[in-house]
Amino acid sequence: MKKILTILGARPQFIKAAAVSRAISKSSLKEVIVHTGQHFDKNMSDIFFDQMEIPRPDYNLDNHSLSHGAMTGRMLEEIEKVMQKEQPEAVMIYGDTNSTIAGALAARKLQIKVAHVEAGLRSFNMAMPEEVNRILTDRISDFLFCPTQTAIDNLQNEGYEHIDCHIENVGDVMYDAAMFYSKKSEAKAEVYPRLNLEPGKYVLATVHRQENTDDKNRIKSIFEALNAINKQKRVVLPLHPRTRKIIEQNSLQLDFEPIDPVGYFDIIQLMKNAALVMTDSGGMQKEAYFFNKFCLTLRDETEWVELVHNGVNSLVGADKNRIINKFNQKLNLKFPSSVQLYGDGKASEKIVQILETDWP
Ligand code: UD1
Ligand code: UDP
Repeated sequence: MKKILTILGARPQFIKAAAVSRAISKSSLKEVIVHTGQHFDKNMSDIFFDQMEIPRPDYNLDNHSLSHGAMTGRMLEEIEKVMQKEQPEAVMIYGDTNSTIAGALAARKLQIKVAHVEAGLRSFNMAMPEEVNRILTDRISDFLFCPTQTAIDNLQNEGYEHIDCHIENVGDVMYDAAMFYSKKSEAKAEVYPRLNLEPGKYVLATVHRQENTDDKNRIKSIFEALNAINKQKRVVLPLHPRTRKIIEQNSLQLDFEPIDPVGYFDIIQLMKNAALVMTDSGGMQKEAYFFNKFCLTLRDETEWVELVHNGVNSLVGADKNRIINKFNQKLNLKFPSSVQLYGDGKASEKIVQILETDWP
């Protein structure tokens, strides 16, 4: 039985790992889970393990709230100890966070195989910590599980055909998760009565990216746009703890009450019934599409370019007027019939199958 050590730590990784862990549990692989502790509030971490029935982590390293170098360094040291103890055949890592690069680097140096889920994505913006994490992680991975053809093309352009690794477009595990939990969320979501919401009568917004929160002009301009839009259509803003801290530190002005981060069932329901989604989240750009909603992306570029090419995602940056104009343009437009951009909902199974069979 091959042992897989899964490293996770941030909210989007719980969602991705939920889908893959489910597939692993039906396979011949054995999974040991390490939570780095990067996200630690109940509504940023525990709630996902509970709702999505992710197996409880075997280890919790409690590394959080540090600068990039300190956080990654401490994770690296502690993950290495777990790897030495567990002696897994492979390490599974997700996405592009500090937990991702720490897991990949620790494994590579111990000559343990590295399986990267969500490989090949690029924003081509090296100022993003995530872009640095992605590029480095891909380069030291043995299995590069790509979610899209764009991701495959990115790797080809970087010369990966000359690198000894297994690259495959398996589809997006976030699509697997969205499809699997969508039905369940209908019965389980509680946000609707709590907020007294009506379908189509609100927009859903999230903001948490460092390039927005840590740039006073950008965050101020985004909030001004949200305040203006809120006069026309109620804005529901589940606030990431990073953004809450920035609001408090800079006394930023929001004319409406943001809400605390919500669990997966609630966010799916909020998305399904929103008039439109506005976000700088990577995951939510795709989820908006899965649930047939236009998305205004509060960034200057995206890794999910196929959404932009298909006219369902608009890059509006942090420019107040551009955000408001695009909002008015898209608000009452009919969502085009969707093509399958992110696989067939079986990405997790494909990943597990490859790890079970294509690897001597
Ligand atoms: C991290 C990822 C980012 C991802 C995001 C998902 C990196 C470099 N960034 O950013 O790619 O999009 O997660 O949400 O890994 N905090 C709390 N409670 C929590 C979690 C965080 O208070 O449960 C606070 C931390 O103390 C810190 C701030 O939020 O002050 C930022 O957390 P951190 O994990 O460093 O980065 P994220 O912005 O969450
Ligand atoms: N999400 C959630 N509750 C919230 C906000 C987001 O469950 O209050 C989910 C969202 O639906 C998506 C994931 O968290 O599945 C995305 O995480 P985040 O935006 O933090 O990170 P990113 O995708 O940008 O890395």
